[in-house]
Amino acid sequence: MKRLAVLTSGGDAPGMNAVLRAVVRQAEALGIEVMGVRRGFQGLLDGDARLLTTEDVAGMVHRGGTLLLAGRSPAFMERRHQEEAARRLKAWGVEALVAVGGNGTARGALALSRLGIPVAVVPATIDNDMGGTDRTVGFDTAVNTAVEAMDRLRDTATSHERIFVVEVMGRHSGALALYAGLAAGGDPILIPEAPISLEEVARRLIESRRRGKLYSLVVVAEGAGKGGEVAEALGAMGLSAHVTVLGHIQRGGSPTAQDRILAARLGSRAVEALAQGEKNVLVGVKGDEVHLLDLEEALELPPPYPRKYLELAATLSR
Ligand code: F6P
Repeated sequence: MKRLAVLTSGGDAPGMNAVLRAVVRQAEALGIEVMGVRRGFQGLLDGDARLLTTEDVAGMVHRGGTLLLAGRSPAFMERRHQEEAARRLKAWGVEALVAVGGNGTARGALALSRLGIPVAVVPATIDNDMGGTDRTVGFDTAVNTAVEAMDRLRDTATSHERIFVVEVMGRHSGALALYAGLAAGGDPILIPEAPISLEEVARRLIESRRRGKLYSLVVVAEGAGKGGEVAEALGAMGLSAHVTVLGHIQRGGSPTAQDRILAARLGSRAVEALAQGEKNVLVGVKGDEVHLLDLEEALELPPPYPRKYLELAATLSR
């Protein structure tokens, strides 16, 4: 193989730059050129790409965001544009593509692989909601960001004996809410995977007050409801609550060491896999092992969901 392309797509995630660094440098070690495509799949339609050198990725390992820019391309959902993208890659002399992102990115990559472009997907999203991998790049950083915010909220919540409703990201997934909630002593934790009624939330808050707890952090994943609406409903039940929406703060910042290491391992394995002739893979991690999965099969698998963490958070946050 002489040349491959790389793009970052969907919502950005801390550690995407570390993946790009790994891809460019692993490729260089194997004598392969790398075209960096800007703005995800949209860059394939716009013809927006250039060769990346090892210098381009110097000083990027600790930087949040993505040097290639990211985004969701509605146009790329259409078959005729996917064909156009495949033609463009071939015209550039690109023999394979590394796509870095979440489920939408994986589906876009699958469409290209069906058009004859070998693809390797590196899972990167703060949501940790992809089948076929225990971890996605960016999740650990986002959890740490949310935990830091919740620790600060706990300080003031305790001083004023308040209830705070903290809304965290995760449109379809409660992983971020669950991990951050467990780490920060939040309870109840509302996630789309295990809905509970607001009456039950109120009951648990009253019960923890009765036991002498001075503050409460109610953690709400975006996909389980709006923080403001939860607080309003609690207010209607006589429980006054303040709301903090953490929002896109969770998507930025310097990646943790864990995310950088994951980025290094998955990014370099993606290049190796394509160089070895793999055509359609998700590069995931299971336990401590990096593995390759058929992309189509990976997209059918349920994302990891540690159900027991919910109970654990409820038991421990007394
Ligand atoms: O997929 C990552 C994510 O941050 C979700 O948690 C969130 O719901 C969504 O992206 C927000 O997307 P956007 O930045 O396009 O509003």
